[in-house]
Amino acid sequence: MSVPYNFDEIIDRRDTGSVKWHYFDDTIPLWVADMDFKAAAPILNAVEQVVQHGILGYTKPTAALFDAIINWHGSRYNLQLDKENILFSPGVVPSLALMMHIFTETADAVLVNDPIYTPFMTKVKQNNRTLVMSALKEIDGKYQLDLDDIEAKIIEHNVKLYLLCNPHNPGGRVWTVGELEALLTLCKKHNVAIVSDEIHQDLTLSGHKFTPLLKLAEAENYAHNIVSLTSMTKTFNVAGIKGSMIFAKDETLIRKISQQQQLNDEYELNLFAYTVMQSAYEEGGEWLEQVLTYIEKNIEITLDFLAGHLPDIKVMRPEASYLIWLDCSAYGEDNQALYDKLREAKVELNSGIKYGREGHLKMRINVACPEALLREGLNRVYAAFRGGDKS
Ligand SMILES: Cc1ncc(COP(=O)(O)O)c(C=O)c1O
Repeated sequence: MSVPYNFDEIIDRRDTGSVKWHYFDDTIPLWVADMDFKAAAPILNAVEQVVQHGILGYTKPTAALFDAIINWHGSRYNLQLDKENILFSPGVVPSLALMMHIFTETADAVLVNDPIYTPFMTKVKQNNRTLVMSALKEIDGKYQLDLDDIEAKIIEHNVKLYLLCNPHNPGGRVWTVGELEALLTLCKKHNVAIVSDEIHQDLTLSGHKFTPLLKLAEAENYAHNIVSLTSMTKTFNVAGIKGSMIFAKDETLIRKISQQQQLNDEYELNLFAYTVMQSAYEEGGEWLEQVLTYIEKNIEITLDFLAGHLPDIKVMRPEASYLIWLDCSAYGEDNQALYDKLREAKVELNSGIKYGREGHLKMRINVACPEALLREGLNRVYAAFRGGDKS
């Protein structure tokens, strides 16, 4: 029987070590990508059962866990995986860093889009690779891949690896089959490997369809150069648990990744991560469906509020996730001043410039919180930019 979750419940997260709620005052955090909602009941029950059992010894992934992952991706995305295609990793960002050592050598060029989730840039640079950026084109309020620019940069810099973000953070695009195929064809032509970060896959919103890159890679006969990275952490709001997966379909490639992981002994998760992952994929579907309905409502509230009260903010309607990309250039000329203005009004958003040059005067807002908090946060955005209160 279906249990209605109460996403209106405001849970105090201060003094819990929460990254998002790091204030000593009543600032409303609409920034880092986690949700202010309690995790799904089956996940919490599974964790409780482990605690009740009382033994927290060395643990390995079970056949049931592999089945849960395989079934989730097979039934939702028609992605056929075998146990042999799956590796575990402490996080998608650690895997991005690992991939530098799979596909590139020191100083090799790695291409990412601009704007992009910040660690795409930092991991390239910290691993002494050359960061090459291709700006996304904004057409009719949506980001598009600029394939001509991508190809020109691949040739100019002899790019070895492309880090794709699908769905895209911060722009919220879910790349279509056509876009992914065009990208694959281009990368194949120039022998560029693609690592696809698909962590937001399950947060695809109605009217859009997520396609795992790996599904297309085999048809293109290019699986030996494709890896996808994903996790249950964004989907089920369990980021503090840490844990993710690496998928690859090519036997030699997966062996190479596994060997690279062994160098630092970073191929296993902890007992709670395995437990949460399995219960999420086995029993979390209902919570996910409900949370997506709530998120879609919050997105509409936000879009309506901004259209009604701050119409000079240009809003990019997301196709996935609860993150919305806002062009705030009408309200300032300096990135830090924009951010500070919001902080003074006691609301925190992510500064767009952290996502690359294309993020200049943009902000990213996270709307995955109880509606009352969201409305108060939006009022504060209004107060910061226009003065006064809109409640
Ligand atoms: C695109 C993307 N990749 C990766 C992550 C983080 O992944 P992890 O916590 O598994 O390192 C995030 C978190 O916001 C993200 O948006």
